[in-house]
Amino acid sequence: MQKAKSAKRILLTGAAGFIGYHLALALKKRGDFVVGVDNFNAYYDPQLKRDRRDRLAKAGVEILTADIRDRDFLRLSLMHNDITHVVHLAAQAGVRHSLFEPDDYVASNLQGFVSILEACRTNARLKLIYASSSSVYGLNKKTPFRVDDKTDHPANLYGATKKANEVMAHAYHHLYGLPVTALRYFTAYGPWGRPDMAYYRFTRQICEGQPIQVFNRGLMRRDFTYIDDIVNGTLAAIDLGAECEIFNLGDNRPIDLLYLIQLLEDALRIRAIKEMLPMQIGEVLETYADIEKSQRMLGFQPKVSIEDGILKFIEWYREYHPAKQPTYCFLNDR
Ligand SMILES: NC(=O)c1ccc[n+]([C@@H]2O[C@H](COP(=O)([O-])OP(=O)(O)OC[C@H]3O[C@@H](n4cnc5c(N)ncnc54)[C@H](O)[C@@H]3O)[C@@H](O)[C@H]2O)c1
Repeated sequence: MQKAKSAKRILLTGAAGFIGYHLALALKKRGDFVVGVDNFNAYYDPQLKRDRRDRLAKAGVEILTADIRDRDFLRLSLMHNDITHVVHLAAQAGVRHSLFEPDDYVASNLQGFVSILEACRTNARLKLIYASSSSVYGLNKKTPFRVDDKTDHPANLYGATKKANEVMAHAYHHLYGLPVTALRYFTAYGPWGRPDMAYYRFTRQICEGQPIQVFNRGLMRRDFTYIDDIVNGTLAAIDLGAECEIFNLGDNRPIDLLYLIQLLEDALRIRAIKEMLPMQIGEVLETYADIEKSQRMLGFQPKVSIEDGILKFIEWYREYHPAKQPTYCFLNDR
């Protein structure tokens, strides 16, 4: 764990979420003051968010229940806690959900983001570090994705809102001098992860003997990035406190979807029932981060391999979901 250069006072939005939870623990551990904000929405089981909150409370981190669109709440929280950095992770995530509930993305990712920008701009000391996404690269064909590549062809509304965040942040930097850093996360995974994401959903379905839906017949690659590496890159970006920068935080070693499934099968010792399907609308074939800039400016170097990371995730999954463990195992041909 990196040590903070000097103690910071951080307002962390989305603190009951997957990345927020791990980041809050790391910030607290290295001696920063951190207060969280989350609306505990029901996009996925809010019990998981409450469990993360309870563990954070034991570690001495409080999460305030509020929506980031509540501007008075934000203004008062920044003032009363003497905040120096806003780390903004709260958002409506997920590609599939954006096909059916587009307004959730407008509310949290567009209105919510403006609310954060407005709260920050009136406080001259504040720095804003926020979550963007590999989704901004959308339909780009050239890999690995570099931060200076064009990002004008998002494949779904989620990616479009994250791209909008980057240009909005740029405008606030230009207009008001607000220091802004965007972190383009690439498929974060690990313990306390998000149940809507493929690796977690597959694990549950494999354990319950249900078929898993494999889109594009598995011909997809993702740059899976272990949560500890995501957290370390984020801490380095907070410490850098850049004026106006964008960074890729990805593992830089994309893997085939079928290999991910094989790792899950091996760790669980159960064969998956695969339902091979065509490409899902809104998905992309590959994500692959070029991390040269992040290595150079943040000292970012992903350390955890997908093989080790999946084992750590499954170990946690077994502990957290004891009722969902299979009563029998079969995997004898590998
Ligand atoms: N996990 C990934 O692989 C990944 C990849 C790329 C980008 N990101 C981005 O990183 C950030 C964190 O992602 P995560 O995986 O931890 O997601 P998450 O859904 O687990 O966490 C987001 C949290 O924000 C909260 N939230 C949402 N809307 C809110 C609102 N209007 N007001 C207050 N709280 C609100 C949710 O309740 C949730 O706890 C998000 O911005 C996401 O888009 C994540």
